[in-house]
Amino acid sequence: MNKFPKDFLWGAATSAYQVEGGIYQGGKVPSSMDPSSKKHANKEITDFSVAADHYNHWKEDVALMAEMGFKSYRFSISWPRIIKDKEGNINQEGIDFYNNLLDELIKNNIEPVVTIFHFDIPMFVEDDGGLESKNVYKHYERYCSVLFKNFGSKVKYWLTVNELNVMVLVSQIINTNKEKSSSNEWQVMHNMNVVQAKAILMCREMCPGVKIGPAPNISVNYPASCKPEDFTAKLNMDLLRNWVYLDILCRGSYSKKFLKYLEENNKQIKTTEEEMELFKVAKPDFIAINYYSSGTVEAINSSNGDDGATNNDQQSGFAFKGFAKSVKNPNLQKTQFGWEIDPVGFRNTLREVWERYQLPIMVTENGIGAKDVLTEDGKVHDDYRIDYYKKHIHQMGLAIEDGVEMIGYMPWSAIDLVSTHEGISKRYGFIYVNRDEFDLKDMKRIRKDSFYWYKELIKNNGDYN
Ligand code: BG6
Repeated sequence: MNKFPKDFLWGAATSAYQVEGGIYQGGKVPSSMDPSSKKHANKEITDFSVAADHYNHWKEDVALMAEMGFKSYRFSISWPRIIKDKEGNINQEGIDFYNNLLDELIKNNIEPVVTIFHFDIPMFVEDDGGLESKNVYKHYERYCSVLFKNFGSKVKYWLTVNELNVMVLVSQIINTNKEKSSSNEWQVMHNMNVVQAKAILMCREMCPGVKIGPAPNISVNYPASCKPEDFTAKLNMDLLRNWVYLDILCRGSYSKKFLKYLEENNKQIKTTEEEMELFKVAKPDFIAINYYSSGTVEAINSSNGDDGATNNDQQSGFAFKGFAKSVKNPNLQKTQFGWEIDPVGFRNTLREVWERYQLPIMVTENGIGAKDVLTEDGKVHDDYRIDYYKKHIHQMGLAIEDGVEMIGYMPWSAIDLVSTHEGISKRYGFIYVNRDEFDLKDMKRIRKDSFYWYKELIKNNGDYN
């Protein structure tokens, strides 16, 4: 018998600033991710302003997703395409763009799974103190109310915030805040937890029956050895890398250990009683997780180690003074970009999340970034991607047999898009986009070998060759 539920949401994912382009079109206002922003480090490595030009190719892109048999498509709405300024004025062209996209998806029986916020902070929010200021509450609330009012009847699954943990831990790598060292990212975390709680409550009121949940990047952590101190470090890493972002929403409070960590590191956060009350009532309906690889953790003593990243990536390179630090896992292979590949870790992660929270899980990212080659026959032979997916989907099936309740699988990415910090040459899509970093060529869409493979898999509800 097939392990996957009959109505399992097979599909794939993207985010607005990485796929849309069109940053000067349709009334979009500047965001922190635009090349003109001083927070953006990527202008030297790629042309971000056009991305995959989905803004001008969306109909063709949806047709390709429909051809693959997608049951769902996870994408984010660009906040700076919807709200024009700090007074909350609305950009009708932005509303129309997403209404057209939603209608096209629904017409093709593709369930939209919509991320409210995926890294692209409008500059009017940045200029009003950014995410570290409580001014963000009013901006995010206004934005959410516009989304729920305009799209609430078309969207059954909302994701509040993409990878808040990555934004907190390595904002300088993914460029949500290049000036990380001068800010308190834990305050960003708290503020964004508050806005998520508010969004959950607003969604319940404005869109009854609709489901909403957070979308952090979650990885199982292995202790580097069986030394008891390494296991303590693993628990510490679990806390700061995974659970603190979910416990608050799913269980309603911050743990004592987390608050102690803040105090010892002089990183206290400002909270109010009223805010903390919100967490008692605003529970998510499901958890969306992004999984790329596992982590391996070693003890670190208080006199050595800096906070921050130990590698130039957002998956495994974390260090917390006196608490825990990531190390390489010699048992795992790596992608061309050095990310460890751990399909069994995927099953372990799904089990950990399910067993801790007992909430249905949707996978909203998973995938392999590679230097795909367009060959002379006009094809892309990405057998390594097929292999990656086979192994991860197999392990997801085993997790379902373990009892994990799963809603869907939307790997990264539906179509090639620009990576957070490594350009378009780090490709993830089932569909190749014919452009280089600065040579935008013809943006032609080309079906990769993985496109045909995934199509068959969806047709057979998870069975594959
Ligand atoms: C996740 C993000 O961290 O990983 C995506 O949600 C990102 O936005 C993806 O693109 C892959 O990372 P990268 O750095 O290779 O683009």
